[in-house]
Amino acid sequence: MSSLIEHTAKILAKATRAVALTGAGISVESGIPPFRGKGGLWEKIDPMRYAHIDAFMDDPETVWNVLIKDMKHVLDRARPNPGHTGLAELEEMGILTSIITQNVDGLHQMAGTRDVIEFHGNFAWQRCLACNQSIETAKVDLGQMPPRCGCGGILRPNCIFFGELIPHRELTRSQQLSAACDVMLVIGTSATVQPAASMPVIAKQNGAVIIEINPEPTPLTAHISDLPLMGGAGSIMPRLVASVRRHLADR
Ligand code: APR
Repeated sequence: MSSLIEHTAKILAKATRAVALTGAGISVESGIPPFRGKGGLWEKIDPMRYAHIDAFMDDPETVWNVLIKDMKHVLDRARPNPGHTGLAELEEMGILTSIITQNVDGLHQMAGTRDVIEFHGNFAWQRCLACNQSIETAKVDLGQMPPRCGCGGILRPNCIFFGELIPHRELTRSQQLSAACDVMLVIGTSATVQPAASMPVIAKQNGAVIIEINPEPTPLTAHISDLPLMGGAGSIMPRLVASVRRHLADR
């Protein structure tokens, strides 16, 4: 692994328009469970029954009770780990330009990254179905289920449920960055949910080097990833960033 990290760091140190695509795996070491695989949330609850927009509109109280309330407790406690801070350092070094994240936890921004595309929204805000007002999740009264806005309307998380489209701005910006990047870091995603999973393919088709960090192989590993680093983001990122620094210092 060390020589692969060295080799990967050499390529990353030369990058000027690197982009990262991140998924739930990068936040696992922050105490947030993934969705799929061992200990995944969707092993416990059916996403089509509790994370689909039709399910929410049919029965918001149940979706709040089964999914959203627990998500709030877990996200409230979560803090960035070395996977997140490593990416913030690469941005600081002028190597990484942007992060496209599927996560709604806000941990990249908390780690100091400036340019984050929240592809699936952000859980820090709720929106009223009636008046469309946005309210900070921290200020929502969970004593009433489903929680309501001052106007009486039902509140929903400012996140993308299954069955909903990715907002146009986030989608087009992510596609443009993927097509223009020279290196894409794909960290902690099972690469099974579209359209996010197509970003590494767009990057590859436009000549980028694909670096994948994941303890498990994904559909990208065999044919799209040029440098699969099999392991946890929290342990691999600090070693990778330290090696990039050495390469930059040797220049
Ligand atoms: N470091 C890096 N990767 C990890 C780690 C870790 N410490 N732990 C687990 N992983 C990997 C798993 O092997 C898996 O491939 O992270 C991946 C998590 O996959 P998913 O749970 O499917 O998460 P993600 O790809 O982000 O899901 C995409 O699906 O459920 C929807 O909207 C939700 O944004 C989510 C989307």
